[in-house]
Amino acid sequence: MVELVAVRGDITEQVVDAVVNAANSSLLGGGGVDGAIHRKGGPEILAECRALRASHYGRGLGTGQAVATTAGRLPARWVIHTVGPVWSDTEDRSELLASCYRESLRVAAELGAESVAFPAISTGIFRWPMDDGARIAIETVRSVPTTVAQVRFVLFGDDAYQAFQGRLG
Ligand code: APR
Repeated sequence: MVELVAVRGDITEQVVDAVVNAANSSLLGGGGVDGAIHRKGGPEILAECRALRASHYGRGLGTGQAVATTAGRLPARWVIHTVGPVWSDTEDRSELLASCYRESLRVAAELGAESVAFPAISTGIFRWPMDDGARIAIETVRSVPTTVAQVRFVLFGDDAYQAFQGRLG
């Protein structure tokens, strides 16, 4: 049974096997978590992202999909890039957000990762309401059978931490 924990902090500082990036579909970097991971992880990560674009992901990574690269200079072994859905007032994209967590765990298990750090995917630039983002994250991770031993939700702000910690009980 996977252990779920919520911590306040910077995901780039987490000493885990795999760090999940709230990536852009281009896989070529961005702001928020994406910017922090590329800035601190160094150019190796982008080099592998470019190689992915040149091979299997010519049109970029689809929303809800996940793919791994090196973690470069980060204290982790891998970065798992996943593209969250942009919040919509008219369309329910919950299943796409759930897919980010499910697919990232699948990739982590394939790599043999035992510990995985997740940010609150889509709750920043993509404007997903934090409480609903936390609900989907925790419900999805709890529902997926996995060989991953620990999932660590790494939250930047106090509201995010409270939203996750409050649901983890
Ligand atoms: N560590 C942990 N959490 C962080 C960090 C960090 N260093 N930086 C930001 N966050 C938090 C944000 O506060 C937010 O709660 O991660 C959550 C996700 O925010 P974003 O990084 O903006 O990701 P998202 O909302 O999924 O938007 C993705 O933004 O940066 C671009 O290229 C990226 O186009 C993509 C989009």
